[in-house]
Amino acid sequence: MWRAALSQAIRLSSSKKASITSDLVSRPSRFFSTSSSSYTIVDHTYDAVVVGAGGAGLRAAIGLSEHGFNTACITKLFPTRSHTVAAQGGINAALGNMSEDDWRWHMYDTVKGSDWLGDQDAIQYMCREAPKAVIELENYGLPFSRTEDGKIYQRAFGGQSLNFGKGGQAYRCACAADRTGHALLHTLYGQAMKHNTQFFVEYFALDLLMDSSGSCQGVIALNMEDGTLHRFSAKSTILATGGYGRAYFSATSAHTCTGDGNAMVARAGLPLEDLEFVQFHPTGIYGAGCLITEGSRGEGGILRNSEGERFMERYAPTAKDLASRDVVSRSMTMEIREGRGVGPLKDHIYLHLNHLPPEVLKERLPGISETAAIFAGVDVTKEPIPVLPTVHYNMGGIPTNYHGEVVHIKGSDPDTVVPGLLAAGEAACASVHGANRLGANSLLDIVVFGRACANRVAEIQKPGEKQSPLERDAGERTIAWLDKLRNSNGSLPTSKIRLNMQRVMQNNAAVFRTQETLEEGCKLIDKAWESFHDVKISDRTLIWNSDLIETLELENLLINACITMHSAEARKESRGAHAREDFSKRDDANWMKHSLGYWENEKVRLAYRPVHMNTLDDEIEPFPPKARVY
Ligand code: FUM
Repeated sequence: MWRAALSQAIRLSSSKKASITSDLVSRPSRFFSTSSSSYTIVDHTYDAVVVGAGGAGLRAAIGLSEHGFNTACITKLFPTRSHTVAAQGGINAALGNMSEDDWRWHMYDTVKGSDWLGDQDAIQYMCREAPKAVIELENYGLPFSRTEDGKIYQRAFGGQSLNFGKGGQAYRCACAADRTGHALLHTLYGQAMKHNTQFFVEYFALDLLMDSSGSCQGVIALNMEDGTLHRFSAKSTILATGGYGRAYFSATSAHTCTGDGNAMVARAGLPLEDLEFVQFHPTGIYGAGCLITEGSRGEGGILRNSEGERFMERYAPTAKDLASRDVVSRSMTMEIREGRGVGPLKDHIYLHLNHLPPEVLKERLPGISETAAIFAGVDVTKEPIPVLPTVHYNMGGIPTNYHGEVVHIKGSDPDTVVPGLLAAGEAACASVHGANRLGANSLLDIVVFGRACANRVAEIQKPGEKQSPLERDAGERTIAWLDKLRNSNGSLPTSKIRLNMQRVMQNNAAVFRTQETLEEGCKLIDKAWESFHDVKISDRTLIWNSDLIETLELENLLINACITMHSAEARKESRGAHAREDFSKRDDANWMKHSLGYWENEKVRLAYRPVHMNTLDDEIEPFPPKARVY
């Protein structure tokens, strides 16, 4: 099965390449030689290049192609294997199919969920666009679950309310059973095919091509199949490379979530924003880490401790098990710490679904019923699932405005646009999730901001517009670095450095943090970075060299991990997912600001930029900060 899929992927990749060479985009190969090797370089020119083919990348690519742009989509995975496929619970939109709803209520919940670190202009944009985005997906053919009368079914999800928190639980999460990401990704891939997006499958993006004035001119990538290097020159480059969950030991993220785009941005001298905010999903399967959707609690699932108590009633009297994720994860951790965990080691919690009607489990939660059977040996109709908070999502990433344009600080302007560079999805930080993302706002983010990127490009660029040629030596430093890495002959295998990094992140940047754990974490993660200089690669070839690719991914993970730890150490407050035991309160006076982490000379430098407290127009007033209770 796997082999068949792989060979299909390769065939498709080859046939697409054939069509590309007959296009106007490829220029003849040239060579770059180091003392030991010669590398073939192929140059391409496109109007726009998208890196990543998950939901954000595909939605951006579709939009660009629709606007008439000659678009390349570079992806290290076959598109339908992107991590979006693993999303389960659904996508939020105030469609009002289950009760009256309003995008303004959704916006309020998202601002509150973000613990007032979210940019309110971007949040307004996302929540207002949400109903349109979901209907668009329906029109694309996404097979949503339905109500009796044929409308898109919407389930309860954490942190969602009606009437600005005063109207009780909202049913706002549109879903395709518990396989929404799978349905969404395949639907978008079908649309991309229809719009003739040019895919470069199993190409690993190495670096941005920045010109001397600081504009982005495209990317350089390695074709993993034959070892050729490809320079993609484009007037607009859109990064949609996902998160970096694999910096941690236990994560719901795929092994491919290695923060490649983030690291490319950091290496280009640009900042990464709010990386200290790492989301722990309350219900990863104990031991295996696989996701059990929040939709299971949305359908009526309940968390219980070793005393059989529904303990969330104590921590979040109104929302209970459907409080926001940071609150539920902290509550579970406190129960375990206080000796009320379950199992022989009293180190996890039970999620009960066994009181739900079997037909609900079959119809609404078939995927996690199967996952629980395979990975926990549990029949969900009879027994509880052993669960533990598990790293799930990076709220931080590449800073962008609500159009998807990458921004940085220049002089006194904290919102200066980097010409030619955009980002969307988990790689980006728009920032709509602030310090804590609400469940089912991620699938929304990817489609809304993937589309926003395409629309922005259409506003500022014309199809076929002339572009300045790449600087002659563009990408050569990257190739020299690749060559050095490929021939590295230190004493530490990639897997050993990676495991060390993952343990440091898991122990020192956990659900609860203190000055002591974070200071130690900074020292340990800096040492992990230093140990990377002593990496050893055994495979010297360029054809399907997974040793090399994993090492490139490790470097990317390490850069993300270092910035995460240092940003967390510096932030002396508790906000959203960043819970400090020594600074247990949110401190708006000093810390209502975004962290910016720069990677300079292999060290982290921090700066800050203000949170956008303004809305886009008078359809809604900004929500002033207040205490966050569920
Ligand atoms: O629990 C879930 O289904 C995850 C959804 C999300 O992260 O948005």
